[in-house]
Amino acid sequence: MAPAPIRIFGYAIISVEGIIADANGRMPVALIIDSDHSFFQASLARAQAVVHGRNSAEGGPTADQRHRVILTNTIDAVSCVSSSPRVLLWNPNGGSFAQVLESLPLEEGIIAIIGGTAVFDLFLTIGYDAFFLSRAVHAHVRGGRPVFSKIPGQSPQQILTDHGLFLRREQNLDDKVTLEEWTREQNPLSGFSSKPGS
Ligand SMILES: NC(=O)c1ccc[n+]([C@@H]2O[C@H](COP(=O)([O-])OP(=O)(O)OC[C@H]3O[C@@H](n4cnc5c(N)ncnc54)[C@H](OP(=O)(O)O)[C@@H]3O)[C@@H](O)[C@H]2O)c1
Repeated sequence: MAPAPIRIFGYAIISVEGIIADANGRMPVALIIDSDHSFFQASLARAQAVVHGRNSAEGGPTADQRHRVILTNTIDAVSCVSSSPRVLLWNPNGGSFAQVLESLPLEEGIIAIIGGTAVFDLFLTIGYDAFFLSRAVHAHVRGGRPVFSKIPGQSPQQILTDHGLFLRREQNLDDKVTLEEWTREQNPLSGFSSKPGS
């Protein structure tokens, strides 16, 4: 797990089946929901860095203000992008997350992990401090890409539990989305405000 001042938060919105993208790697329309989008953008606005795979993006108006780590197999380890000083490329098969942290000018704050599947899987091992799982309770998407690769064999909730996280709070963002906040027991909501994602 990362040193204490850095907190690693995961964010995903899933269908009833635990899916984040369709079989072609596109975000299903059924998962694009205003209440979750607002929550996601407000959460990212509090993050100092965002981590995602090469085919994902946060897409918000303030995206350029944050440090960004993009996973790709096209480089050896950790590499800067000369045209984008806030962007790092990372191949976890060649470079460690500790090397990524050394390359980021951060000593504290939130690093937001926003997918896709292989990235969410990787940080199960590195260790989430919290995972914000939005469940689109009426959206059915079958045959696509799951939030974690062990789905459908295991539920997202079982996987988060198996990796040391506890369901701390559950709230309806509206009648379409239920937000689950998963945190570590030894860190029970300390540092969290009453607003989700703070
Ligand atoms: N519903 C949600 O919450 C949610 C969350 C995230 C994404 N999405 C959606 O999911 C779709 C993208 O899915 P995706 O499966 O293509 O995921 P992705 O993680 O965005 O992109 C996959 C690419 O990222 C790189 N990568 C990922 N993990 C890696 C690893 N461990 N080591 C090295 N490289 C790694 C590889 O790039 P190279 O090919 O360059 O090696 C891989 O081809 C988009 O439509 C996005 O909108 C939805």
